[in-house]
Amino acid sequence: MRIDKFLSVTGKASRSESSRAARAGRITVNGVIARDCSRHIDPEKDEICFDGIKVLYREFIWIMMNKPAGVLSASEDRKQKTVIDLLPPELQEKGLFPCGRLDKDTVGLLMLTNDGALSHALLSPRHHAEKSYYFRLSRPYDNARGIENGIMMDGKLTKPAKIVMRDALCGVITLTEGKYHQIKRMFAYAGCTVVYLKRISFAGVKLDPSLGEGEWRYLTPEEEEALRRAPV
Ligand code: URA
Repeated sequence: MRIDKFLSVTGKASRSESSRAARAGRITVNGVIARDCSRHIDPEKDEICFDGIKVLYREFIWIMMNKPAGVLSASEDRKQKTVIDLLPPELQEKGLFPCGRLDKDTVGLLMLTNDGALSHALLSPRHHAEKSYYFRLSRPYDNARGIENGIMMDGKLTKPAKIVMRDALCGVITLTEGKYHQIKRMFAYAGCTVVYLKRISFAGVKLDPSLGEGEWRYLTPEEEEALRRAPV
């Protein structure tokens, strides 16, 4: 693999940034300065450092985005803006797709990846990966008509959910499944309309509070590890 490809796949630098950094002597391969980014390395065996820090090889890209309202959780759409359109051009060509979906008006944590196998495992109903959402309702939630134990949806009982109210209108709901419009439909069953919904965690990874809506960053190795451990 070329050095510039390696640095772009690992999320360290784009290809043009890599060539500039290489010319400036900021990249080493096995301790020796590499000024030519087209040089091939073996990501499994060679040690590549950027500004003296070892770059860990990652086969797949995992990105966390703070999805804004008004964009689709899809890889492409002929008419509407998608979450992929919010990434820089070099990342738009990497075959990334959203790991799961949020409604167009839902904001918050959305993972983007090109790791089909892990994404599939995390979304599989058998794996019970937890997803938490902050919600705001149009009218107070009457706990007596509890929906946590499950309601009938698409011919099946929903899995138990956890709801922690912060006040009469707002709270956090945690689900282990993801049916179409699930939270809105659960609260509709209890007679409430969800007026704001934000995903705040997914499979043990929390939304980075420093990310504004529409912003993204690569997952840290620890966060990727948490995702790998999540499917049980
Ligand atoms: N439940 C919903 O109703 N909408 C979402 O976007 C996610 C969960």
